[in-house]
Amino acid sequence: MAAPSAVADVIRARRSVRHYRPDPVPASLLHEVTDLALEAPSSFNLQARSIVTVTDGRRLKALTEATGGQPHPREAPVMLVFVAESAAAGEERGDIWEEARSSGAWTEQFAAASPENARLFQEDLQARGLAREYAVKDAMIVASFLMIAAAGAGLATSPMNGWDEEAVKAAIGIAGRDDLHIALIMPLGYPAEERVHPGRRDRALTCFSEVYGR
Ligand SMILES: Cc1cc2nc3c(=O)[nH]c(=O)nc-3n(C[C@H](O)[C@H](O)[C@H](O)COP(=O)(O)O)c2cc1C
Repeated sequence: MAAPSAVADVIRARRSVRHYRPDPVPASLLHEVTDLALEAPSSFNLQARSIVTVTDGRRLKALTEATGGQPHPREAPVMLVFVAESAAAGEERGDIWEEARSSGAWTEQFAAASPENARLFQEDLQARGLAREYAVKDAMIVASFLMIAAAGAGLATSPMNGWDEEAVKAAIGIAGRDDLHIALIMPLGYPAEERVHPGRRDRALTCFSEVYGR
């Protein structure tokens, strides 16, 4: 496990990189970085999110078009698409409950009750139009873990807004799926530029004690 100071250094050194070298990311490194990202917590441990790694030239081109031609997906050897799964609790996910039960992480009783609890929770979210938003939370935490894991491995990333959701879905083979949503897309690769820290607002404006604004 990394020493706390190493984690702090990685977090402080990470920047959003817009230009990438064409060098491919070794498959083992891509596997390691995505594995670390999947360590992210999720609601009910339901893991209502997936990562799609895209390296195929035709699909990278489709993602470039989906972003209106931003340079990152044109240059980066890997694009990551973070997919939020808003119907996850209604799906068969017995592997989750079984693993937590058999490892002893959860009691038999807790593991047995979890599928129904997760389903009821998600049904309530669906009734209130919040299921997408909650799945996006899971996906965004994975994306955040991935940015840190990538920086720790000497790789660059940049979270991206500004894409057409249907075009991104089509590029990764889920056109028309309304139970799946694109939370974020992100280039991954070796940096071709050094970025200066653009700064953060004064702590006093964004970090409060006890009461918002104070
Ligand atoms: C949700 C999100 C969407 C972003 N979208 C874009 C984008 O479309 N294009 C881009 O160049 N940068 C994008 N960024 C990167 C931000 O501009 C960057 O994080 C910010 O300027 C702070 O810089 P830093 O990441 O180097 O600390 C995005 C960042 C986030 C968190």
